[in-house]
Amino acid sequence: MLRPAAFPLILLAALSFTACNPEMEDDRPGQPVKHRREAFKALLRATEPFGRMLDEGQYSAERLAALKGALVQVREEPWNYYGPDTNYPPSKSRPEVWSQPEEFEAERQRFFTATDALLAAGSEAAARAAYDETRASCKSCHGAFRR
Ligand code: HEC
Repeated sequence: MLRPAAFPLILLAALSFTACNPEMEDDRPGQPVKHRREAFKALLRATEPFGRMLDEGQYSAERLAALKGALVQVREEPWNYYGPDTNYPPSKSRPEVWSQPEEFEAERQRFFTATDALLAAGSEAAARAAYDETRASCKSCHGAFRR
């Protein structure tokens, strides 16, 4: 007896879940916000393993070289999706990215300087120092420019 009524109720629940879900789709041509967020996630995935390696005492020159190889291209990507009309939901960028471009660029340069040092690191100590500064650069920019 319950079955015929239960089915539409489940559908309704599914629909309202979709409506309340804060994760909106990027419906603009080329989906720059979606690509930007994916590029930042890839950046997180490419940097975290440095920390894991160092925290777990798993440093080796070969590992470090492999992680560097994975970071080189990924660190270039998020910035390619910051066109002038790309400040719309579901972006978590603050409007200051566009209204204070010089400050945003300074944060970006800090990040590149830190990752340059990480890519150049030839010892565990150098990798640790450059990794810590890389994380600090992520945090610094997020504090100012991410919601
Ligand atoms: C120059 C500024 C800047 C730097 C440097 C930076 N980020 Fe971000 N990051 C942002 C902004 C702005 C957003 C919000 C993007 C959006 O939604 O439009 C963001 C978003 C993210 C997200 C969320 C992606 C999502 O929506 O799910 C992750 C994860 C992330 N960054 C990781 C990192 C890591 C890791 C680093 C350093 C290795 C880093 N970021 C460096 C500015 C920066």
